[in-house]
Amino acid sequence: MTLKVKNICCIGAGYVGGPTMTVLANYCPDIHINVIDKNKDRINAWNDEDLSKLPIYEPGLKELIKKCRGRNIFFTTKVKESISKADMIFISVNTPTKEKGVGAGQASDLKWIEASAREIAKYSKDNAIIIEKSTLPVKTAETIKEILDASQRKLQDRKKFFVLSNPEFLAEGNAINDLEYPDRVLIGGDNEFAIQALIDIYSRWVDPKKIITTNLWSSELSKLCANAFLAQRISSINSISALCERTGADINEVSKAIGTDSRIGSKFLNAGVGFGGSCFKKDILNLIYISNFYGLKEVAKYWEQVLKINHWQAKRLSTIVVEKLFGTITDKKIAILGFSFKANTNDTRESPAIEICNSLIEEGAKLSIYDPKVNREQIEKDLNLKENKEFNFHSGIGSWQFSNNISSASKNADAILILTEWAEFMNINWSEVSTKMRPPSWVFDLRNVVNIEEAKEYGIKTWRVGFEEPNK
Ligand code: UDX
Ligand code: ADP
Repeated sequence: MTLKVKNICCIGAGYVGGPTMTVLANYCPDIHINVIDKNKDRINAWNDEDLSKLPIYEPGLKELIKKCRGRNIFFTTKVKESISKADMIFISVNTPTKEKGVGAGQASDLKWIEASAREIAKYSKDNAIIIEKSTLPVKTAETIKEILDASQRKLQDRKKFFVLSNPEFLAEGNAINDLEYPDRVLIGGDNEFAIQALIDIYSRWVDPKKIITTNLWSSELSKLCANAFLAQRISSINSISALCERTGADINEVSKAIGTDSRIGSKFLNAGVGFGGSCFKKDILNLIYISNFYGLKEVAKYWEQVLKINHWQAKRLSTIVVEKLFGTITDKKIAILGFSFKANTNDTRESPAIEICNSLIEEGAKLSIYDPKVNREQIEKDLNLKENKEFNFHSGIGSWQFSNNISSASKNADAILILTEWAEFMNINWSEVSTKMRPPSWVFDLRNVVNIEEAKEYGIKTWRVGFEEPNK
């Protein structure tokens, strides 16, 4: 049996579904792809003539959309029509951590996965290949299979489905490159024909040696583990940053020294504000949840510590800022440079900036926030606090204001905090910025990206994560 794929449907037009399907469309001009989303505004944004209005910012995405949109990729809200025509259906819906009920705070909320599976059961054709792409807890494919079967009451009319796991390893900000040149493509499943159909698609641009096939559970667990291991490296290096600050060791030197050991490797050893993004925390919480579920308390506790250090780092850095500014930041203006969870994305999910800004506002600070890609509305939503367009100094109550550039953010500021490693922050014009700030002015480089010597030359006091305090 060969399963020919001529028509693909992707449920979910978000950070995963959008870029993944766009790259697929580029390499498979003969395949018709419908990307569906229940969020009409999001679909409208994907269809906007003005490509700067695409719902997500990702380097290289605009160009591919320009080439493929309307040719063989279509963004639509037509669920029934798109599912019913598809030979292959990707599920790329969001799976946030459950807020209430069983497993609240740890397990993933699968309600959108379940809704997708029900829609597939209702509308899809026989022998459709269902691909789980969303980040999911282990054994979700089994749940999808159960829903697909249970949704079809009449046994004699039951459609047949093939469910595969094909986890996404793209990192935001580098998604197009990661999709075009993946380290590996992982496909988990038990039907050789369905697996082959997916291999046939990827092998149009990926070296077949890089396509790994496993059973379903290995594929699902590998995704959680890959993210947990990456997150663990960040917590490890952040824990060492605190030791460097006390001992006089230099975090950059330590990272380089350990990273040159080929068994360790040099990537993911940058100390900073801690990890954010939609995956790391959620995946570790899933790992903790299933470990506890299977009675592996020690395993659960081991991974819990990675999250604890991440939270501790953000808290520790906020406290240092307050201490350096004479123990109080009430009524002080602090410029926040960078709000996204990392550079080259407008995504703020789980961004450490949210926790840091909230704690500074709680201490009474007036924040002026600038990020090259995050807009005012998003910040308002994340901080759960309305923007205070006019700072009312001496009110004693903390607040925040949106800034369009570094210069306006730093006007009259007592301190600048670098929270995201945007390239723009590596080349700040300190001669200009220093004249705008209120002395004694500080820069807290919490990502180690600033030209610190130049800032010092202009009389700015500096503090960097993972370095001994230079000003004591
Ligand atoms: C991650 C995985 O990399 C990807 O494979 C998976 O599919 C989804 O989750 P993403 O969350 O987009 O991707 O970004 P990533 O580059 O992994 O960074 C995660 C967080 O770690 C960011 O907040 C980043 O700033 C932080 N980080 C990364 C560090 O603090 N130091 C580092 O050295 C590297
Ligand atoms: P991710 O980072 O995993 O891509 P996003 O939140 O960016 O997560 O995108 C997931 C998208 O899936 C959202 O735009 C959401 O509206 C969409 N979605 C969720 N459930 C459904 C559904 N049942 N049908 C169609 N779209 C859905």
